[in-house]
Amino acid sequence: MPASDGAGPRAHLTFRQPDDWHVHLRDDAMLAFAASYTARQFARAIVMPNLVPPVTTVAAAEAYRERILAVLPEDCAFTPLMTAYLTDEIDPGEVEAGFRKGVFTACKLYPAGATTNSAAGVTDVRKIWPVLERMQTIGMPLLVHGEVVSPDIDVFDREAVFLETVLGPVLRDFPALKVVLEHITTEDSIRFVEAAGPTLAATITAHHLRIDRNAMFEGGLRPHAYCLPVAKRRHHREALRKAATSGHPRFFLGTDSAPHRKHEKESACGCAGIFSAPTALESYAQTFAEEGALDRLEAFASEFGPRFYGLPLNEGTVTLRREPQDLPEVMGDGDLRIVPFHAGETLSWRFAGRSGLP
Ligand code: NCD
Ligand code: ZN
Repeated sequence: MPASDGAGPRAHLTFRQPDDWHVHLRDDAMLAFAASYTARQFARAIVMPNLVPPVTTVAAAEAYRERILAVLPEDCAFTPLMTAYLTDEIDPGEVEAGFRKGVFTACKLYPAGATTNSAAGVTDVRKIWPVLERMQTIGMPLLVHGEVVSPDIDVFDREAVFLETVLGPVLRDFPALKVVLEHITTEDSIRFVEAAGPTLAATITAHHLRIDRNAMFEGGLRPHAYCLPVAKRRHHREALRKAATSGHPRFFLGTDSAPHRKHEKESACGCAGIFSAPTALESYAQTFAEEGALDRLEAFASEFGPRFYGLPLNEGTVTLRREPQDLPEVMGDGDLRIVPFHAGETLSWRFAGRSGLP
């Protein structure tokens, strides 16, 4: 249970060290910038493989893991958990070899064209049936970007249609395959996960708990509120807040922190993605506090994820202090100027550090 310091609003919150079950750390200069924020707050993170070129081999994942660790201080106690990017042609043998070697923790399914750097993704889920078969056999989780890509389907309906047309058949044909439906944005997905068996879980981002689709059009076009899956109507956001704070063990934390340079978002064809890593825990804490559910943050952030993945819980703790924290309008400098989630806002919590590391 999170520590409280007496009656009334808690002045600090100490709980088991959390993990981020979905993050984009990028590469090169952006990696050096972004990774430190994730490593500061989280003990482990599931690292997305949508680089250019994507991470499709064991060697590429090992090299990427090295590059991540190389930009972090040696004593930072952060473990990147690597993922394999599924393509139409990926070899089940390569996936299995990477899993057995402890390099790949999971595979990521991007429907081709669904989001940033997904062009090499899967064009028809039937093409990866042999890989899913293998993953089911070896107990390797499948992580899913749950949106169909057909231009005939309204962008706000793409997640709901995916549930029926893609995820349903996958779960039916692979009843023992562990699947994480990532960054869910709809009430439809919540009901789908609740109705499914113990092999299906979902991650929920900090930003989808706070913004609805109005945020993209507030007084003008707001590219920094644009991400994929796109934020939906308010009732979906309210349902997500209820699900995340419900204590249901198959909803857990995944920030989908996805940095893009300011100028690449403020463009005629702006990139999708919200950079939430710098104050991820503060943002979740704010939502849980507003919902009167601070006592459920620890399970959502630090217990349900590892239990679903079958990994040990972390031993250390993190502390958040209840004190105002002003966020800058822009972070970084030079070519690396990034607008973070909550830019220009004041949050009510501040990350105060990790402790008790073994
Ligand atoms: C992600 C990115 O930029 O890599 N963007 C996003 O809006 N979430 C890709 C993704 O997870 O869809
Ligand atoms: Zn993502």
